[in-house]
Amino acid sequence: MTLTDGVRFTGSAARTLAGAVLANAAGARRRSPIDAAVTAYDPLDAATAAQPHAAYRRLHGGPRVQYNPKRRVFVLSRLDDVRAAARDDANLSSAEGPMLTRIRTPILVSLDGEQHARQRRQVLPAFTKAALDSWRPIIDRLAAETVNEVLANPGCDVVQRLAIPMPVRLIAQLLGVPGTDVEDFRRWSEAAVQITDLDLTARGARKLAGSLRGSWAMHRYFTRQFAVGGLKGSDTILGRLLAENAAGSLPDRELFYFAMLLLLAGNETTTNLLGGMFDTLATHPEQYDLLRANPDLVPMAVEELLRYLSPAQNVYRTALSDYRVGDTTIPARARIMLSIGAANRDPLAFDEPDAFRADRNPSQHMTFGFGAHLCIGAQLTRMEAQAVLRELVARVLRISVVGAPRWSTNSLLRGPTRLAVRLTPA
Ligand code: HEM
Repeated sequence: MTLTDGVRFTGSAARTLAGAVLANAAGARRRSPIDAAVTAYDPLDAATAAQPHAAYRRLHGGPRVQYNPKRRVFVLSRLDDVRAAARDDANLSSAEGPMLTRIRTPILVSLDGEQHARQRRQVLPAFTKAALDSWRPIIDRLAAETVNEVLANPGCDVVQRLAIPMPVRLIAQLLGVPGTDVEDFRRWSEAAVQITDLDLTARGARKLAGSLRGSWAMHRYFTRQFAVGGLKGSDTILGRLLAENAAGSLPDRELFYFAMLLLLAGNETTTNLLGGMFDTLATHPEQYDLLRANPDLVPMAVEELLRYLSPAQNVYRTALSDYRVGDTTIPARARIMLSIGAANRDPLAFDEPDAFRADRNPSQHMTFGFGAHLCIGAQLTRMEAQAVLRELVARVLRISVVGAPRWSTNSLLRGPTRLAVRLTPA
């Protein structure tokens, strides 16, 4: 990375932050009459973020739209309303990002309209069925290796041994990062993803600084890789994107954004799912026995884990004009929380929503979003989780949690941050 690149990168990060401060200050000043029931539910409260389900039950007991005055956010918690909002990208904008804090970045998940459609068309060729099939052996090998690690170390923290390394190593391989660089890559990506827990406080600023340092290191790394060449024609994601692009080239800047997008969107979410899977199977031994007796249920059980755990708990939108939900009008410019976690536990959509049933087949869950921004990595995630679950069912008699688990307090992404387990071999 040249000095000019460094200055340009820091400059664009500073502009992003300054824009966020102005947009959030403007949002805080705006006073529209509020025509919605007030709720004390606070998605940014750490204890609620760690264990949100009682709060979801209270939301479901109230009206369809509720408003938190402290956070100036409207909350949708019903599956039908969350799905309708996710589909209505003409009236509900993603341009201020998927978090509560309004922040504009040029990555796919924060784009609207034609700009979004164009960038999505560029990314999709990297995730064709043929591409996914070609990655299956890598995924199966990683699942076998990481489950071995956990089996060989009774009482170890499964988050550190499996749930973090599996998706990081996979993305590293898919991006063409050589094994020798994976540890650096893991450190940078852990730092960079802190942006998903950003707020405009001193703590938020420290996280942003860490995130920028991680992104910068990653930027230097990929710029060097691009300069050396060798990606084009390779069976990596970036190689596929280059091959698909008519001119045979994409600007390095765009390739770097794709790499960052996959890291930000794909790592911590999958970590949450894999860690949560161990906790759920340990605390529902009868469901685990059902799976061991019927391994064909593995894909269905993964869907139920996706619903039950909701690794991404919510996404946000900004109303472009007044937006009606039932009898309530949400005013233009308001921030709206689409609570995926609550929608996935909606008693109107799921019988006994707080129960984990491996054979439920909850096909309408909202875990990967819906509509224009539907998750691009959904199939990859399923393949990873199914590979790990198949390994467990074949080789492990019983999963036990030893010691108290710790859950994240990130308001957006939820999963165990520490989970000591012992696996009893079959
Ligand atoms: C458990 C794992 C995952 C969950 C729960 C999840 C969840 C989501 C959700 C809810 C969205 C929609 C965001 C919105 O509507 O604003 C989304 C979008 C996205 N996801 Fe995932 N995701 C997961 C894994 C992955 C993986 C593994 C990748 C890639 C390697 C990925 C790539 C993306 C991308 C690129 C988008 C943006 C799509 C767009 O804006 O058009 N995700 N994800």
